[in-house]
Amino acid sequence: MVLLIRWWLLLLVFAGWRAHAAEPPSIDFARYMEGKYIFERNCIVCHGPRGDGAGEMAASLNPRPRSFREGMFKFRTTPFGALPREGDLRYTIKHGLSGTAMGMFSQLSDRDIGAVIEYVKSFSRRWRKAENYAEPMRFPDPPSWLNEAKHVEKGKTLFSAHCAVCHGPNADGKGPAAATLKNMWNFPSLPSDLRQPHLRCGDREEDVYRVLATGLNGTPMVSFDALLTPEQRWEIIAWLFSQKLPQVPTLGGAPPREAASGK
Ligand code: HEC
Ligand code: HEC
Repeated sequence: MVLLIRWWLLLLVFAGWRAHAAEPPSIDFARYMEGKYIFERNCIVCHGPRGDGAGEMAASLNPRPRSFREGMFKFRTTPFGALPREGDLRYTIKHGLSGTAMGMFSQLSDRDIGAVIEYVKSFSRRWRKAENYAEPMRFPDPPSWLNEAKHVEKGKTLFSAHCAVCHGPNADGKGPAAATLKNMWNFPSLPSDLRQPHLRCGDREEDVYRVLATGLNGTPMVSFDALLTPEQRWEIIAWLFSQKLPQVPTLGGAPPREAASGK
């Protein structure tokens, strides 16, 4: 049993590390062991026994399953570079990432999800440093003028200037730079076709706004928090939603994220 404990877990316990962290990353050993059990039954085939994203199915998948060893997560409510909140990971695990092999694990209880998150955290040292944690960002509601023609027009111009090089002038993901982009794991990072009714980040205007604020860690999709004003971001979103392809019938999309509250 003791052999199964990661060496650093022991160190953490002895160093009383819990006392120092901003968002106390409390390591609960019983939960960690529960999480290991759940991970081995549900996640290993893609994310690999060592959490390096090299599970049996990995080679056939695009995008590849995430390596958890670098502690980098795309879909968050926290600023670019920061670790996600627990609520962000819960949302991903519960609802999956549309259009990828990362399915929804709605059969897992809240407790099971909490435990598997504890285990996922054990793969990367980033979770042990308080400076990698951050409070969630604030995201405003969409403005009432969102669908007014003049803003949609401005959004088109802004999209050409800031996004088209990667996402393509018509947002289909085929911009001139698209084929050359790689992520931090040195795998191709394909710009999303933003006309799809279901994006990984979610289906709503607010979901795209959140990505523009947070960026996607470890990918060329950086944060536009400093580059575009909130009004400019909503204008881009207004144009993007005017280009959406028709909805295909689904089992009923994901509900709004509770993660925005930071829990
Ligand atoms: C069939 C393959 C598969 C299985 C099984 C799977 N995943 Fe994934 N997972 C993926 C892929 C592929 C990605 C990367 C998606 C991307 O980069 O857009 C991913 C990404 C993730 C991410 C990163 C999300 C982010 O914000 O970057 C988390 C967290 C995650 N998976 C957790 C889990 C957990 C926990 C389990 C088990 C309960 C699990 N996954 C099972 C394929 C899988
Ligand atoms: C340098 C290239 C680049 C630029 C510029 C860029 N993006 Fe991206 N974007 C990407 C890549 C690559 C991804 C996918 C990353 C991944 O998953 O590996 C992405 C993903 C996204 C997503 C997430 C979609 C999903 O699947 O959930 C949104 C939304 C998005 N971009 C919007 C924009 C908007 C709007 C702009 C302009 C303000 C923009 N991007 C500018 C490269 C870029």
